[in-house]
Amino acid sequence: MDSPHVGDDLVQVLFTEEQIQQKIGELAVQIERDYEGKDLLLVGVLRGAVMVMADLARALTRHVEMDWMAVSSYGSGTKSSGVVRILKDLDTDIHDRHVLVVDEIIDTGLTLSWLVANLSARGPASVEIATLLRKPDAQSMEVEAKYVGWDIPNEFVVGYGLDYNERYRNLRDIGTLAPHVYS
Ligand code: PRP
Repeated sequence: MDSPHVGDDLVQVLFTEEQIQQKIGELAVQIERDYEGKDLLLVGVLRGAVMVMADLARALTRHVEMDWMAVSSYGSGTKSSGVVRILKDLDTDIHDRHVLVVDEIIDTGLTLSWLVANLSARGPASVEIATLLRKPDAQSMEVEAKYVGWDIPNEFVVGYGLDYNERYRNLRDIGTLAPHVYS
């Protein structure tokens, strides 16, 4: 049985709420500098990016627009299925727009490499990626993320939008789960 409290199943906290907010503030400074004088559309990748999108957007003091895509690349477990499909497309026409895709993790890189190719075919002025976390396997897909919070080892992490079977997204920290949760 897992605990009734969302934080009790962690064996290790990798990043605290304070560390996450500080890192997002640093990314926001870089983004404001790089997009100075340009329009900016943030595209959040549902559902995991909700937290980082909300905090990154509010860390920016400039005007931004926000839109969302939902794509599926994972099943309900911890392994990528290798299949990407659009569940919800953008409402915004991104032709000539500066697009910054916001996600909380690049794992295999499959999702974002596919998404960047898909968005690039729509004639945007630019497409870049901001991700809070990046795992080593992302190298193999050659996904170029311009803004990366932390590179992390190949561990299964939850919290701050990251789920295990749809739970733990509402955890304020990011950490690793106790083995009893999987069994
Ligand atoms: C997660 C995450 C990324 C993707 C990264 O989303 O938000 O979009 O997986 O994995 P990849 O680099 O191996 O493609 P997921 O498909 O689990 O959906 P969710 O955001 O609804 O949790």
